[in-house]
Amino acid sequence: MDARRWISGTAAAALALGLFAFASNAADATYVGAAKCKMCHLKQHKAWSETKHAKSLEAFKDAKAAEAFAAKVGIEIKGSPDKTDECVACHVTGHKKAGGYPQEDAAKLAAVAAVGCESCHGPGSTHVAAPKAEKKGTIKLGSAEACAGCHTEKTSPKFDFATAKKTVHAVAAAAPAPAPAK
Ligand code: HEC
Ligand code: HEC
Ligand code: HEC
Ligand code: HEC
Repeated sequence: MDARRWISGTAAAALALGLFAFASNAADATYVGAAKCKMCHLKQHKAWSETKHAKSLEAFKDAKAAEAFAAKVGIEIKGSPDKTDECVACHVTGHKKAGGYPQEDAAKLAAVAAVGCESCHGPGSTHVAAPKAEKKGTIKLGSAEACAGCHTEKTSPKFDFATAKKTVHAVAAAAPAPAPAK
């Protein structure tokens, strides 16, 4: 084995160990998909599932609207929108990130193939795994910054956070359901 390969192999192993050791840190959280969140946040999930975010890939099916939107944002469609990374990035959850879109497994794919919970709240693996008493503070609450990555001057010139946030899952600060007994 030559020295360079040995070094890169060792570095990869160290990285894997490092990731394992810090898996409980929110900063290293990975995407789990909206179906997992549904287990405890049924009301938010139901409200969300009725919004356009939950069907955000369907926008690609209307070729005329897709072309018009591409022109508006100044992105070239390469073949079709679903094969154009720049388009996909804003229409799914965790594009090309660990646990995010795309996924081989059909059920996992379905849970990230939309603008889901974690598009706004960030990756949720740490939050899902945390003991109930520690859940708070293990996930982002949802802020104007969370929207700004997708709702830009070009995509949504009239975007107003204070108004828009009321419709993302129109549930008044309701207490989440208790965690299911294991
Ligand atoms: C096993 C149950 C469970 C799962 C699964 C779960 N949550 Fe939670 N979540 C809770 C509980 C319990 C709280 C309330 C914590 C508190 O108020 O002390 C909470 C709180 C939150 C909050 C508010 C945080 C805050 O600081 O007030 C957000 C946002 C949230 N969850 C989003 C999510 C998302 C997104 C997912 C999926 C990635 C998810 N949750 C999965 C149980 C769960
Ligand atoms: C920076 C993030 C971003 C990118 C990149 C992006 N979109 Fe979107 N797209 C959005 C947002 C946000 C909306 C909702 C706009 C609104 O109503 O405020 C949207 C809406 C749409 C709509 C519905 C528009 C309508 O009025 O019917 C279509 C179609 C669409 N996008 C297609 C595309 C295509 C095709 C691409 C790639 C050429 C693309 N998007 C790239 C964020 C993005
Ligand atoms: C488009 C962005 C967005 C999506 C998608 C989204 N949320 Fe939220 N969520 C927010 C914002 C913003 C707030 C804070 C609302 C506020 O400030 O009153 C929030 C608040 C919450 C809270 C705190 C209590 C409450 O209801 O206000 C929970 C729990 C929560 N979201 C869970 C979820 C779950 C579960 C999903 C997926 C089914 C989800 N969210 C999808 C943006 C989003
Ligand atoms: C990952 C990208 C992404 C993020 C993050 C995001 N959105 Fe969106 N949003 C979209 C896309 C894409 C659409 C258009 C879906 C469609 O038309 O099919 C959309 C549509 C909407 C609409 C519906 C517009 C209509 O015509 O009905 C509202 C309201 C909205 N977003 C609010 C928010 C708010 C508030 C936040 C932040 C808390 C947020 N979004 C975060 C991508 C995003």
